[in-house]
Amino acid sequence: MIVADRGFVLAQAKINLCLHVGAKRSDGYHDLESLVAFTAFADGVGLADDDVLSLTVIGPRSADLPVSENNLVLRAARLLAEERGVKAGARMTLHKHIPVASGMGGGSADAAAALRGLARLWNLDLYGQDLQEIAVKLGADVPVCVESSPAWMEGRGERITRLPPLPQFWLLLVNPRIPVSTAEVFAKLEARRGLRLACPLAPFDDVRSLVYFLQSTTNDLEAPARSLAPVIGDVLSELSRLPGALLTRMSGSGATCFALFDSERELRPAEAMLAERRSDWWIAGTPVPEHPTGTPVFVQ
Ligand code: C5P
Repeated sequence: MIVADRGFVLAQAKINLCLHVGAKRSDGYHDLESLVAFTAFADGVGLADDDVLSLTVIGPRSADLPVSENNLVLRAARLLAEERGVKAGARMTLHKHIPVASGMGGGSADAAAALRGLARLWNLDLYGQDLQEIAVKLGADVPVCVESSPAWMEGRGERITRLPPLPQFWLLLVNPRIPVSTAEVFAKLEARRGLRLACPLAPFDDVRSLVYFLQSTTNDLEAPARSLAPVIGDVLSELSRLPGALLTRMSGSGATCFALFDSERELRPAEAMLAERRSDWWIAGTPVPEHPTGTPVFVQ
């Protein structure tokens, strides 16, 4: 029997355009400041009614993610059902495209998409704040992924300020196919910029003004990630040599790095050039849409 999905939710990849790290706190986490954007490049979560909870993973990166009880999508579903006393189940299908453990928040985006979608499938009266409170129990990056729109992230990740739309730009995402553990990168952290940035509440006029702001920032996790995976240095140097690249940086705890472009016209030739030089790396060019696209889509 073929049972079609009733709903589908995009789980957009999260990119930390900058990431400053403060002191280690008594709970073992570090305080952060980060400007976060979401790309059109995404995983997806399909949802259908069922009596029990189940998850199937399909798609180009499904082999990297064996389904276990620890899968963040299943944990998110169980937690939401528990907190809201939901007796129904759901048949969930995760379409996996985002490389695993790559600094693009794939697992967090999947969990956040499952929360948004299941809230709708189960007809739960949940507001942004309710979902955020559940999300933070699943991981530091899950609350911002629930928003899935440009945001300023503080605290261990749970304090989110939604920002006005960013001017549309393009990212060339490159991963050297080396998974990096976030916990290990934080453990290696020595120098850090500390928390002094002002949240950019006023809209950026254009891509140049966004880049100008980002040039005064860094990713503090770049140095410790490079010490664990020196190939990240090669990725950054290849990206910075591409014509049209306005800014080159690592996202999250790595190993994915990005180059920022003004337009698709400039991005595509650079993407082709790099793909030819480094066929062993995972490479994807994607827009960062001006408006969020992570709203669940359901058939009635
Ligand atoms: O919460 P999440 O599972 O994404 O974090 C993985 C690990 O990264 C944490 O256990 C912690 O060691 C480190 N981390 C941190 N400070 C943060 C976020 C993560 O030290 N704000």
